[in-house]
Formats: sequence, structure tokens, C-alpha cells
Amino acid sequence: MSYPSILGTPLSIGAKTIKNRIVMPAMGTGLASAQGEVTPALLRYYEERARGGAGAIVVEIACVDSPEGKGSLTQLCIDRPELLPGLAELAEIIKAYDCLAMIQLHHAGRQTAPAVTGRQPVAPSPKACRFMRAEPRQLSREEIASIRNRFVQAAVMAEQAGFDGVELHAAHGYLLSQFLSPYTNLREDEYGGSLENRFRLLREIMEGIKTYTSRLILGVRFNLTDFVKGGISLDEGLEIAQLLEQNGADLLNASCGIYESGQTSIETGSFQEGWRMDMIRQAKQRVSIPVIGGGVIRQPEMAARLIEEGYIDLVWIGRGMLADPDWANKALKGCAERIRPCITCNTCFASIIQGHHIRCAVNPQTGREERLLRPASAYHKTVLVAGGGPAGMQAALAFAQLGSSVVLAEAGSCLGGQMIVAQKPPGKHAIARLRQYLINEVKASSIQVRLNTQVTSQLLAEIKPDVLVIASGSKPVIPDYPGIKSFYSAAEILDNDPGWEGQHIIIVGGGSTGCEAADFLSERNQVTIVEKGKVIAPDMENMSRLELLARLKQKKVKIFKRTELETADNEKVSLRSADNNETTVCAYDHVLFAIGNRPVLPELDPQSLPDQVFVIGDAKQARGFSQAFFEAQMLPYRLIRG
Ligand SMILES: Cc1cc2nc3c(=O)[nH]c(=O)nc-3n(C[C@H](O)[C@H](O)[C@H](O)COP(=O)(O)O)c2cc1C
Ligand code: SF4
Repeated sequence: MSYPSILGTPLSIGAKTIKNRIVMPAMGTGLASAQGEVTPALLRYYEERARGGAGAIVVEIACVDSPEGKGSLTQLCIDRPELLPGLAELAEIIKAYDCLAMIQLHHAGRQTAPAVTGRQPVAPSPKACRFMRAEPRQLSREEIASIRNRFVQAAVMAEQAGFDGVELHAAHGYLLSQFLSPYTNLREDEYGGSLENRFRLLREIMEGIKTYTSRLILGVRFNLTDFVKGGISLDEGLEIAQLLEQNGADLLNASCGIYESGQTSIETGSFQEGWRMDMIRQAKQRVSIPVIGGGVIRQPEMAARLIEEGYIDLVWIGRGMLADPDWANKALKGCAERIRPCITCNTCFASIIQGHHIRCAVNPQTGREERLLRPASAYHKTVLVAGGGPAGMQAALAFAQLGSSVVLAEAGSCLGGQMIVAQKPPGKHAIARLRQYLINEVKASSIQVRLNTQVTSQLLAEIKPDVLVIASGSKPVIPDYPGIKSFYSAAEILDNDPGWEGQHIIIVGGGSTGCEAADFLSERNQVTIVEKGKVIAPDMENMSRLELLARLKQKKVKIFKRTELETADNEKVSLRSADNNETTVCAYDHVLFAIGNRPVLPELDPQSLPDQVFVIGDAKQARGFSQAFFEAQMLPYRLIRG
């Protein structure tokens, strides 16, 4: 069968039918209000994903017991009657697109902070999470009974609001997962010890939900393994899958990892597509109810193959649907090449961890649906875009979609700009897909592309644009050190691998570019990073950063912090530490600079410029893709609303 037909096959879940095999899993957005209410922004965000063809959406972690059970300040809640109207609107808008509406019921337990809840966290046992640090208070039996009732009441409220199902969040190290895991549950009463006892709270909640609701799909997300020593092992995870079926679950969602093994729940770029599928298949073989599985599934062909070969019944597409809300429709139409790809950078996760609304590095509309989707008016003007990098291509597409006649002029021989280098370091291959996607979109549009074309006053006179968008990018800064031999920008070396082996390379600048160059070169060379600041790679998302730093340590990359390159001659460099003013002298073969980029701007006669001129992306200030895409997408809105 072709991949669209496999993905498009309906399936029964409990008493309901899902129209296709694609599920959007629960993902916190930070878009609810501080009181946990549904907001217009949250409604638009989910509407867009339901419209995009998902068979089911599991609405993000909804707290059943605030403030104690909240994991973040603007977490959605489902614990008070006054929240019902908003939740009902949410269920209604999802179901309006024939998409099953489910909601995830959640209590954070020890994986929260007093700054969020205003009180000491609670847990099965007083063992602190290494990341959250606050020591939790052990729950009494009475409190456990109250939490059980809260979960059941939340399910009743979900049914009243019109949801098709609930998913109990018993994964990722939150309260129900803490009870299940011998790593966090050290109790000696009937809720601790044996698996039967650790499963007791979940069983009681499931029984309550079955008793007090009549139509709901009862789903459970659980860990097949915690990936921590002393936690749930795969053998026990498989037993839990069976217990869940025996106790009335209609649907299983098999995940793994807790905060202390964070990147196994929300993976970094180094994880292979579908990496946990062998484990999930074992769970599927033990039960007869449908199993949802996923994790770094980015391509529809892969999703369909996993279903066809019996690994899973339904695939979850999480970040894939943040990057492209139309993921399902495009997959079902067989247009995989038109899916805006997620690059697994975890900017989305970092934004909610910082207490912001959800953002996606490659899709400026995510989390901004209410403001940035399809302005009512068209914009029929002539637009010249200088520069075919991410900002330039995105701006050209944004104007073309509104009916403008767009010329995209690129000085080089191909489109892609900074993405061509950014795709080179280990774990960054997805950027090549992003580049290809943008090129595909430009080709499929009415945009006229002119390669090897500088924007000059003559070109302006020829095209006579109403709007000029300068997205000409930036180039690396290389300082002047008299006497230095063999020096390059880190970007230059990433772009054209010189094939060095056994060389001693000094990288000046320990931001993400310098560290990625070190990661790339240290397989076969001895690499030293020299960083002026106190922190290495502060510009990276934390999980990816920690993983990269661990790799650098393993590859024996030397790191000097609070240190600057002072002088260099033909053979050695001297490095000065700001802490003790001491100088270290090192022999070197090559020096790479990764100390930032400076904008490149075309030289244009002011007389030749149109009234509307905008400078965006790195041409304005060198930063990441996220800002470049956002500024590009904003332009037509600025002009229309102007
Ligand atoms: C921003 C963000 C928020 C998430 N929030 C939740 C959540 O509320 N509940 C949950 O079970 N998993 C949550 N996850 C995990 C996802 O559901 C999913 O398992 C994970 O992102 C891996 O799948 P993917 O590669 O398809 O994104 C979140 C992930 C991200 C990126
Ligand atoms: S922010 Fe990065 S990881 Fe998150 S959805 Fe967008 S591209 Fe994927």
C-alpha cells in the first residue's frame, strides 16, 4: 500500500473511530491564561492543527489539581467548573474538523517548583528531582485519595465539555509516573513496593473514570522505561502495558524518560527517526488495544512503514505538527516534499520552559496563529527581495502568497544562505531538508528567482519595485592578528571540509558555531576552544547544549573560559585568562574564528530606492533562523496594517 493509504485508514478506538492514523500528542504551549483558562490564542492554535487533518488531537497537559499540581505558570487547567465553557469551545473547534478531541490529565508531582505552585511540591516519596531541586513532601493516604478524585472529576469535566477522550499522563516522570516508578516511589504502604502497589493509584483512577463517565476513550501515556538507574525497566514497562489493558484502557501511548533523562522524552537532533520503535513494538505485541507510538518521526513514509510493519497502530507527530500544522493533510495527499520540516532544535520546548508562549524556529506562525495567519486583504505590489537565504525565501513566499509579484535575487549560485553551512555539523542534517523545503515552495510559487544576481541600482531601475526587502545576510568576523598563519572562519571550514587529520586547531569563540565546529573537527584532530565569556554555547537550547558539551568532553576538546587570544606567531598562540591574568602558550596548526557575524548590505544609490525598504534577518543583525523567519513573515502584515 502507498503511504497515504496506510496513513488514511480509519481505526476503532473504544466506541469511537479515528479517521486516519495520525495523532497530535499532548504538547504544552503556555498559551492558556495564568488562571489556566482556554484563551483565543489557544483555540486558534488547536483549530489550525485540527484543520490540518490530524485524526486525533490530545490537548496538552491539563492540570487536575492547581496550584499544587501545576508544572508551569500558564498551564491549562481542568479542575474548576468555571473553566468548562472554554474547554467546551476547545473540544468543539477540534471536533468541527472531524478530528477526535482528547485531553491529557496531569499532575506534576515533584517535577515542578515552588515558584510555579507557591508551595512545596508533593510526591509519593520525599526524593527531589535533580533538575527541579525542591525537595517534595510525601503525600498522605488522604491526599492520595483526594488526587484520585481530582483525576476522576477532571475526566467527568472533559466528558461534559464534549471531549471524545482523556489521556492520563503517567509518563515522563510526573506524579502518576512517579508512583509507578521504583526510582521515585519509595513508599512502604499499599501504594509502594510491588508493581501491583505502585500501579494502585493509576488503577483506582481508571476505575473511577470508567464508573463516572460513559462515552470517553480512556487513554494512558506511560513509560516503557525511565532511562534512569533504578527506574522502570523495559520488562516492567511491558508489564505496565498489560496491566493498563487489563484495567480498562482503550488506548495506549508508549513513551519513555523522566526529567532526569530529559532528551529521551523530547529528543535532541542526535536521535534517529523512530529510535524507540523496537521497544514500542514489544508493547504492541503484549496487548490487543491500539498503541500510539512516535518520537522524531518526521517523514510520512517512515510513519506508514512503522504501521504497516506492525510496530504501532497510530503514529504521533508532535514537533512535526508544530513546524507544519498541515502535516497530516500533506501526508495524506502524498505531498511529503511540501511539509515544512521540524529540525529538532527544541526552540519550542525552550520557549515554554522560559515561561513564554510556544514558538517554532522554522514556523513563525506557531503560537501566533491568532495574529499571523492569513490577513484578510491581498497585497498586489511588486517586491524585490535581495538575498536567497532563510529570511529572503520566507519573505518572498509571504509576499507571493498575498498576490505580490516577487523577484528573488541571490548573489550566489544557489538558494539557502546560512543554511548551507548550518546543515554540516553532526546532528544538523535536518536543516538540509528545511532548505530543500523552502526551495520547493519557491519553485511551486510565482516567484521569479534570479541567481548570480546582485541587487544594484540598475536592477532597481529595471524592476521598479514598490517594496525592497534586504535579506542579504551576514559574514563571519575575522580579526586581525599580525603574524598569524593559517586562519579561517569556523563557517568556512564547516562549509568546505579541508579533511584535516592530526592537526592542532584553536577555535576562538565558544558559542554554538565554535562548539559545532569543534564537534565536527575533533573526531580526527586535537581541538581547543577559547571563549571570552563564562559560559560555553549559551545560545543553544539547554538539552542540545548539554549533549554537545558531553560529546566535546568525550572527544577531549580542551576548553578555556574567560580567556582571550592575545598574540599569535607562526607556531604558537598565547591565551590570556581574565581570572588570573596568566598566559598559556599553545602550539597550533590552524586558528578558526567563531566570534560572530557582521551584516552584509548592498551598496545602493539612495535615489534609486523605493519608498518601502526593509532590512531583515542577519542583514539587520546576525541571529538564528527563528528571528529571520519571524521578521520575514511579519513584513506583509506591517504593510497591510501599516
Ligand atoms: C514543546 C513541547 C511540549 C511538550 N509537552 C508535552 C505534554 O504536555 N505532554 C506530554 O505527554 N508530552 C509532551 N511533549 C512530548 C511530545 O508529546 C512528544 O512525545 C515529543 O515531542 C517527541 O515526539 P516528536 O518528535 O514527534 O515531537 C512535549 C514536547 C514538546 C516539544
Ligand atoms: S522549534 Fe525546532 S524542534 Fe520545535 S517544532 Fe520547531 S523546528 Fe521542531
